This record gives sequence, C-alpha cells and structure tokens, in this order.
Amino acid sequence: MITSKLPNVGTTIFTTMSQLAAETGALNLSQGFPDFDGPLALREALARHVMAGHNQYAPMTGLPALREQVAVKVRSLYGRNACADREITISPGATQAIFCAIQAVVRAGDEVIVFDPCYDSYEPAVQLAGGVCIHQPLTLPDFRIDWQRLADALTPRTRMIVLNTPHNPSGALIESSELDRLAELIRGRDIYLLSDEVYEHLVFDGRAHASVLRHDELYQRAFVVSSFGKTYHVTGWKTGYVVAPPALTDELRKVHQYVSFTAVTPLQWALADFMAGHPEHIVELPAFYQAKRDLFCDLLAGSRLRFERAAGTYFQLIDYSAIRPDLDDVAMAQWLTREHGVASIPISVFYQRPPQGLRLVRFCFAKREETLRQAAERLCAI
Ligand SMILES: Cc1ncc(COP(=O)(O)O)c(C=O)c1O
Repeated sequence: MITSKLPNVGTTIFTTMSQLAAETGALNLSQGFPDFDGPLALREALARHVMAGHNQYAPMTGLPALREQVAVKVRSLYGRNACADREITISPGATQAIFCAIQAVVRAGDEVIVFDPCYDSYEPAVQLAGGVCIHQPLTLPDFRIDWQRLADALTPRTRMIVLNTPHNPSGALIESSELDRLAELIRGRDIYLLSDEVYEHLVFDGRAHASVLRHDELYQRAFVVSSFGKTYHVTGWKTGYVVAPPALTDELRKVHQYVSFTAVTPLQWALADFMAGHPEHIVELPAFYQAKRDLFCDLLAGSRLRFERAAGTYFQLIDYSAIRPDLDDVAMAQWLTREHGVASIPISVFYQRPPQGLRLVRFCFAKREETLRQAAERLCAI
C-alpha cells in the first residue's frame, strides 16, 4: 500500500468537464484553451526550425534569443530592465515555473497564502515542498483582497504570497495601489511573492495590467510568471517564463535544472522569431479578446443569466441563480453540459471552503465566433 503524498488530488475538474463535453458532444467552454489555432507565421517558424535541425537541448536557462525577446518586452511594457542572462528563465509552461518557484523557497512547515478561488496547481506544489497553504477568500461579488484579513493571516512562518492577476476564474484585476499596500504590509518580513501573470495581455476596456514587474520594491522578492501558450494561442506548446531578481533566479534554476533541465528547443526558436517579427501581436491581443467577450456577453444579454463583464482573462463568470437556484454549481455545470450542450467550470472547485449559496459557473470565451454564437443561442433558450 502506498501512502499518497497528495491524498486530496484526484482528476481535475478541467479533465472531468472536457471529457463530459466530448462524451455528450457539448460545446466545450470549460477548459481554458482556444478552439482556433495560433498565428500561421508562428507555426511555420516551428516547422522551419524543426527542419533546420534545431532539435537538441537548448541551454538550461532558455534560448538566448528568446530570453532577449522577453527582456525587450518587459522593458517596453513595464519599464523593467531585467537582465536576459541573470533574471529571465524559459520554462516548459507556466505550471512548471510555478512549481519550481515554490520548491525554490518554501520549506517544511512554511505557510503560503493563496487567495480563493485559486488556480489548482499552487497547493500541490506547496504540499510537496512540505509547506501548507493558508487560503484567504477574495471578497464577493468583486473578488478583491481583504486587506485586514491578509494582515491578520501573516505569521513568522509565512514564506510566500501567491498573486494572480488578471485572475482566473473571476477576471478581476489587482490595482497598482493594491501592490503598494502589499509592499507596505510585507516590508521587513521574510516573505516572497509568486505573481502568476499568465493573462497579462488580456486586460480590457482600456485598463492597464498592474504587473509586479513595474513595482521596484515588490519585484525584489518576486517570481513573475507568464505563459507563451496563453499569449500566442498555443496552450499545447506548454512554454512560459519566469522573471525574478538574480538571487531568486539562481535558486529557481537549481530546481528547474532537475525538474526538466530546459524547455523544448524548436518551440523556443519559433517564439523568438515570432516575437521579433510580430510585435503587434501582443498590442492587438486585448482588443481581440475584448471583442470575443463583448460578442458573448451581448448575445447573452437577453438570457436569464446575470454577469458583470470580465475585466481581464478569457473567462466570463455567469450567475445562474435566476434559472436553477436549486442546483449547486457542480450540478449546474453538469446539467448545462448534458441537457443544454454547453460545458463550463463550476467555481466552487477553486475554493478550499466554497461560500454558501455560490451560484457561479465560468465560461471560456477563447472560442471562434460561431462557437460563441451557438453556445449563446443554447444558453438563451433555457
Ligand atoms: C492562472 C493560471 N496559471 C497558470 C496556468 C498554466 O499555464 P501553462 O499552460 O503555461 O502551464 C494557467 C492555465 O490555465 C492559469 O489559468
């Protein structure tokens, strides 16, 4: 008999709902990935580099050309002069980067503060490091940090705080004034930050992304993580990066070196080429996804579903209490998939202790116009 190191981990809700969508033939607006392809020039670049023989190990820290492109990007977007050699590491996906950052600094008995509802990869990584997650609920209905509660939760064992902005599943954004507040709160304490910014370019209505990279004081203790998969519509490429000050980067790389050693070589070449040749891609991304959000929301305006348009990410939360207040969100997501052919994600699964009476499901709008139209038509008919 094996005693599990992760007894509470089972099949994730993303796998469950995607499987149910496939079995029932439902439109899959559950898991967070596009149903359209990444840019042709990016895919062609990958084919070219594979054929050109770029198929052996890349340097452990990442291909220099790609690290340089990330340096250019963070300088132009966030004014941070991060050194491509000492502060930027390419990872095989943001998930791996998150795992490595946590292993690098969290020790047995340490506490890591996460804000619920939170992405599901943080807690297992903390547990494997011997730490424990302290779950702080975000306020409802607007999913903001409760500052008094956070202040009260800090102890001498607090080693890390995990931020996620734009926030999955709510789409909420952390404001730059909140980063100042956080800096004040943890000043003089031995606390690191993990800032999960994989949706950094998906910020709507003219708002700005308050990256920790912009914040000099917080950056000194931060691992800032992003994902090329999200930014370039190629989630299956599982390639991301971490920006962190040199001392933290050194520790992160010690872990990364033995978790995966490096990221996939031709993917890194293709991304470096595409970033250099198509700087407009990230500039156009907010409008691209905002149009999808607005199409989906406009089409749902006549339905009995209620929502506030997401400020960021490619997820839209929907309150279904006017339709089936009797169903909890897990039952509702299943009912919607089986009976109405649209798969979503219940958000209670992102909580340690879901608030009573939560009647919200999450739809992913990173979908083609026809998928969004069909989904909305089905939802409006309920
Ligand atoms: C908040 C958040 N962090 C990290 C990831 C993982 O990104 P990647 O696919 O690059 O590992 C996701 C993917 O859904 C996410 O939503």
